[in-house]
Amino acid sequence: MMTVEWRGKPVWIINRTEEMLQSLVKAADLLVDPKCEEPQQPEYCKNDTRSIKPNLMVVVGICTHLGCSPGQKFKTGAEEGMPPEWLGGFLCPCHGSTFDFAGRVYKNKPAPINLPVPPHTYLSDTRLVIGEEKKGA
Ligand code: FES
Repeated sequence: MMTVEWRGKPVWIINRTEEMLQSLVKAADLLVDPKCEEPQQPEYCKNDTRSIKPNLMVVVGICTHLGCSPGQKFKTGAEEGMPPEWLGGFLCPCHGSTFDFAGRVYKNKPAPINLPVPPHTYLSDTRLVIGEEKKGA
């Protein structure tokens, strides 16, 4: 995972593995807003992976409860102190909100909505610009 700063906020970028992408499907029923109905992402990221490129996750890493910094809990299962059925993602240590590998929040947690996806665009296969959008997007 890479973290960059945008407008003073951390933006996480992950090149998701196939296993991480599969976990997005498995998690859907457990999430508050799996289909991203809340406007927490640009229209071009309102899709199954909340992204332009399916493998690349780009989200603002600030909890939507009270603004703490969720941490990585990438390993599945109980290995990192999570429940055995954990699919991998992020845990906010403040009050226990959990998020999947698309920044979508799990149900019955204090954070009410998904982590935001910032506006962004790709200038090439290897160049990502946060804060700008393709013309017409
Ligand atoms: S600030 Fe993240 S759960 Fe409260």
